Amino acid sequence: MIEISGLTKVYGQTTVLDGIDFTVADGEIAAVVGPSGAGKSTLARCINLLERPTAGSVVVGGRDLAALSGRELRRARREIGTVFQSANLLRRLTAAQNVALPMRHRGLEDAEVRRRVGDLLERVDMLHRANHFPSQLSGGQRQRIGIARGLALRPSVLLADEATSGLDPESTRSILGLLTGLRDELGVTLLVITHEMDVVRGIADQVAQLDHGRIVEHGSVVDVVRRSDSPLSRALLPMPPTPRAPEGLALWTLRYAADVVSPFWLSRASAQLGDLALLSALTEEVGGSSVGRLTVGLDPNQDAHRVASVFEALGITAERQIMGGIGVVAGAAGETAA
Ligand SMILES: Nc1ncnc2c1ncn2[C@@H]1O[C@H](COP(=O)(O)OP(=O)(O)OP(=O)(O)O)[C@@H](O)[C@H]1O
Ligand SMILES: [Mg+2]
Repeated sequence: MIEISGLTKVYGQTTVLDGIDFTVADGEIAAVVGPSGAGKSTLARCINLLERPTAGSVVVGGRDLAALSGRELRRARREIGTVFQSANLLRRLTAAQNVALPMRHRGLEDAEVRRRVGDLLERVDMLHRANHFPSQLSGGQRQRIGIARGLALRPSVLLADEATSGLDPESTRSILGLLTGLRDELGVTLLVITHEMDVVRGIADQVAQLDHGRIVEHGSVVDVVRRSDSPLSRALLPMPPTPRAPEGLALWTLRYAADVVSPFWLSRASAQLGDLALLSALTEEVGGSSVGRLTVGLDPNQDAHRVASVFEALGITAERQIMGGIGVVAGAAGETAA
C-alpha cells in the first residue's frame, strides 16, 4: 500500500510537485499520466526516496519513509522495486549478474543469490538469456531483466517509470502481461508511470493525471472512462478517425461505457430516429466493461435536443459535431453552441 499525502517537491524556485494526495491499495495497479515535465518521474523518485520530499508524507507498508533516515530508510526502501525506461542495466554485467546486483549489495549468500536469480529469470521468461550482456538483448528483453532486478529484494511495491516506452506493441503487450501477472500471483502493488494511454487501458485499476505538479483528474479507470466530458476520459478513449462524411448528414459523436447500454442500442436508436449511418466505431474492453466511441450520421433536420435525449435514454452520450468540431453538447441542458 502506498499512501501519499501533501507531497511537495521544490527545486530552487520551482515547485515540481504541489501537494499530491494519492493512495494505491495493496495489489492494485495505479497509473500516473501527464505531459512531459508534469512531475511524474519526480513523483516516482519521491516515493522510493531517491529524492527527499520538501513536504508531505510517503507511507509505504505502514511506514512513513520521509521520516526515516540512514539504515531504517535503506531497509524500508527494499519494500520498493523500481524499473526505469531503458532498464538502466550495467553494460559490463550479464543479465543474471544485473539481476543479482541488489542481492549482492545486501550481502545475500551465493547459493541464495543463484537460486533467486534463477527464479526471477524464469518468472520474466529470460532464463535462456541469463549469460547475455545488455547489448545482446532487445529492448523488451532488457525491460524484462530490469523488472527481474526490480523484484530482486522481493518488494511489495514496484514503480515502473515509462517501462514500456519505445517498445513495439508486441513487447509492450508482453511486458504488461508480465506486470499484471506480478500483481495477480505475488500481490505486488504497482505504480505505472506512462504517457501511453493503451497501457492505462490495458492494465490500470486507477489513473491519475498529473499536470504542473498537481493531480488534475483522478479515479478508477472505469469511472474515468464513463465521464463523458472530461479531458482524461477523452485522452483515454480517443475517437477513431472518421472517413469523409457523406453530404447532407449531421454528424454525431457517441460515447458509452457498457453495462448500462443495451447491446441492441443501435437498432433502438434507429427505430426512434430513422436512418442512422455508422461512420466509424471503436469498441473495446476497459477494466472489464466494454466501451465504445462512434461517429454516426443523421438527418440534419432532426431536433438536436431530441436526438440527444434518445441516446441519453439508451445510456449513450451524444454530441453533435459542427464544422469538424463538436458544437452541441447533448443532455438535459439541450443545445449549447460551443
Ligand atoms: N533535479 C532537478 N532539479 C531541478 N529541476 C528538476 C529536477 N528534476 C526535475 N526537475 C524539473 O521538474 C519538472 C518535472 O520533471 P519530471 O522529470 O518529474 O517530469 P516528467 O513528468 O517525468 O516528464 P517526462 O514525461 O518528460 O519524463 C521538470 O520541469 C524538470 O525540469
Ligand atoms: Mg519522466
